[in-house]
Amino acid sequence: MTTILEINDLKELAQRRVPKMFFDYANSGAWTESTYRANEADFAKIKLRQRVLVDMTDRTLETTMIGQKVSMPVALAPTGLTGMQHADGEILAAQAAEEFGIPFTLSTMSICSIEDVAAATTKPFWFQLYVMRDRDFVLSLIDRAKTAGCSALVLTLDLQILGQRHKDLRNGLSAPPKFTPKHIYQMATRPGWCFGMLGTKRRSFGNIVGHAKGVGDLSSLASWTNEQFDPRLSWKDVAWIREKWGGKLILKGILDKEDAAMAAETGADAIVVSNHGGRQLDGAPSSIAALPGIADVVGDKIEIHLDGGIRSGQDVLKALCLGAQGTYIGRPFLYGLGALGKPGVTKALEIIRNELDITMALCGKRDIKDAGPHLLY
Ligand SMILES: Cc1cc2nc3c(=O)[nH]c(=O)nc-3n(C[C@H](O)[C@H](O)[C@H](O)COP(=O)(O)O)c2cc1C
Repeated sequence: MTTILEINDLKELAQRRVPKMFFDYANSGAWTESTYRANEADFAKIKLRQRVLVDMTDRTLETTMIGQKVSMPVALAPTGLTGMQHADGEILAAQAAEEFGIPFTLSTMSICSIEDVAAATTKPFWFQLYVMRDRDFVLSLIDRAKTAGCSALVLTLDLQILGQRHKDLRNGLSAPPKFTPKHIYQMATRPGWCFGMLGTKRRSFGNIVGHAKGVGDLSSLASWTNEQFDPRLSWKDVAWIREKWGGKLILKGILDKEDAAMAAETGADAIVVSNHGGRQLDGAPSSIAALPGIADVVGDKIEIHLDGGIRSGQDVLKALCLGAQGTYIGRPFLYGLGALGKPGVTKALEIIRNELDITMALCGKRDIKDAGPHLLY
């Protein structure tokens, strides 16, 4: 059994436990994956200031994201097909986040439905919305999120059309998986995963199948996305959604200063500086490289969050120093989930919390709210 000390250990374990097509779905970016790689690599270039002989007792990582108290400034990012990394994955991740005191964001493209997650948790979670051409369906998703008591809507802006990931096409990714010899082999070599899947009925897109008109089979995710997602999505739609939702709104997928300035005018509560984990525009800058410019333009107008490439507590601290109030992790929690289910998600969060706490202390701070550019070298 591997000793699990860092997120990479969970990644290695997940690769051994999750069928190749689903592990690859998480561990991939668009086209050459240059932006996916840059998300991680650019964090490593940022250096921290080491300080000594300052009182390091009584430290706290507690802060707020959109006014909600969080035990550390890290939320679980919305990720599609999470219930394919591990049976009932969204439910398990939401429970782990709730116990940890951080937000869980449920994707529109989840396997467990909004109602499934609401029934299995006791505190509000966040719901991520993709805007489909069928506006009645969009309204019904918003209503279902309200009924479930979701405390924020995360509106994703950077997936009007789908970026291409070579691995998914080569693997013939689908949910539920097809039963070709290749796919049967991939699953048969992961018996623990299969056993879990046999014990759940949640194997397709829980928010969509049986809810959206004429959708019974989503086996080709790419073609369904291309047919259903609205390529005409505009700032006017953001205003419409804000009005229909009426609660806390987070705009996800901002990478450009001009877009950030427009987002700040919408009345939304926060933006997420994000390139979708390098899964959309390959060749775009890393999120952490885009953050300082965006913080310069809108830092005093709207709360800024960041995701993309965070693999450690050091990365979280660097993002806070450069202007983010909160961060999200995608792959780190998916690796934990694929490796060990709910305890794996908790483990990923514990690793990041421990690294963040020690890093903050060695930079001479005791309260995470004091993070700022003065901690960078
Ligand atoms: C497997 C996977 C599925 C994703 N699905 C969604 C999704 O359904 N909706 C969304 O807004 N973002 C989605 N994202 C993007 C994440 O919300 C987030 O932006 C990204 O994972 C952050 O980068 P990181 O994985 O390096 O932490 C997905 C990312 C991954 C890795």
